[in-house]
Amino acid sequence: MSGELRARVREEFERRFGAAPSFLARAPGRVNLIGDHTDYNDGFVLPMAIDREVWLAVRARTDRRVAVHSIDFGEDATFSLDGARARDSGGWVEYLRGVAWALEDDGRPTRGWEGVAAGDVPLGAGLSSSAALELAAARTFSAISGVVWQPVAMARIAQRAENEWVGVNCGIMDQLISAAGAAGHALLIDCRSLETQLVLIPDSVAVVVLDTGTRRGLVDSAYNERRAQCEAAARFFGVPALRDVDVATFTAREHELDPVTRKRARHVIHENARTLDAAQLLERGDLAAVGALMDASHASLRDDFEVSRSELDTMVELARRDDACLGARMTGAGFGGCAVALVRREGADTFACDVARMYTEVVGLEPAVYVCAASQGASVESLD
Ligand code: GLA
Repeated sequence: MSGELRARVREEFERRFGAAPSFLARAPGRVNLIGDHTDYNDGFVLPMAIDREVWLAVRARTDRRVAVHSIDFGEDATFSLDGARARDSGGWVEYLRGVAWALEDDGRPTRGWEGVAAGDVPLGAGLSSSAALELAAARTFSAISGVVWQPVAMARIAQRAENEWVGVNCGIMDQLISAAGAAGHALLIDCRSLETQLVLIPDSVAVVVLDTGTRRGLVDSAYNERRAQCEAAARFFGVPALRDVDVATFTAREHELDPVTRKRARHVIHENARTLDAAQLLERGDLAAVGALMDASHASLRDDFEVSRSELDTMVELARRDDACLGARMTGAGFGGCAVALVRREGADTFACDVARMYTEVVGLEPAVYVCAASQGASVESLD
C-alpha cells in the first residue's frame, strides 16, 4: 500500500516538475487499541500507527511560498510563509498552513517548498487523516529547513495547528502516535508527561479495523461538551485533571456528583486504569485479558461516556461473536467511524470477511474491514 503511494507521489512530482523530488516524507494514521477520551484528561492511551498514510514528494523553493498539488482532491494550493495569520479557505491546505504557522510561532525556521501529496487514510473515519497530513507536513518542513526531527516537539506543534489554526480542540494522542509510532508496536503514552513506552504486539494476534461506513456528525460540539464535563469533574475533586483521581477516591465520592458528571468521570478514571493494565498484559502476552479490557472499554464509552452509536455497537457485537475475536471496541472520538478488534492471527482474514458480510446483512451499509500492520511514525527519505 505505502509502496504504491510512494511511487504515485514521486511519478506525479516528476511529471509536473520534470525532475526528481529532493525528499519523500510520509506520516501514518492511527488506530487506538484502548484509552479513549483520556488524552485531554492528562491520562493514558495505547494507540498504534497504521499502514494507511499521507505521502509528500517535495523540493525546496528559493522564495517563501509553499505550493502543493493534492492528487486525492485534484487541487493545487499555494500560500506564503509570511502571509495571513488566520485560517482562510478551509479544506486540506489549512492543515499545512496551520503547521507552518505553529512552527513559526514556536520560533522554528521555515523555508518554502513545492510538491505533490497523496494519502490513503480514509477521511473522517476516526483514523486521524488530519494528524497524518500535519505530521507529513511537519516532517517536510523539518527536512527542507535542515532541522533535526523531534517527534514529541513536532507532535505538540501539529496539535497546536489543529487546536488554534484548524479550530479542533483535540488532545495529543493522534499527533504523537503519528510522529512516534514504531513498526510492530503499540505506544503507551502518558499524555501529561508525554513519556512514551513501546509495547510489542505479539505475532499471534492481528489488529483489525472495522469501519462502519458511518461518519461522525456534530462531533466537535459533543467532544467539547465532554471535555467541559470532565473539567467540571476534576474541579469537584480539586485536582488539575481527572488523571489525578484514582478508582478508590472516585468510588468513595462518586455519589456526590450529578448523574451525568458521575458517568463521564467514571469512564475516564476507569479507562485510565484499563489502559495501563492493557499495556502490561499485552507486554506479557495475556491477550485474552487485553481483549476483555477492550470489551469493558466499549461498554464504558457506550453507557457512561455516551459517544458510541448503534452501528458501532452492532459492529462490535458481530465481531465478538467470532471465535477468533479476543475483544472489540469503538475507537477514537466516536459518534461514527471505526471499531477495532484484537483477533487471533490465523483466523483474521476469515474474521474480516465474515464480520463485513454480517454487518451488511444487519445494518445495510458496506463496511471496510481490514487487518492493519503497526507502522513506523513519520519519516523522510532524501533522494538528493
Ligand atoms: C480524537 C482526538 C484525540 C482523542 C480521541 C478520543 O481522535 O483527536 O485527541 O481525544 O478523539 O480518544
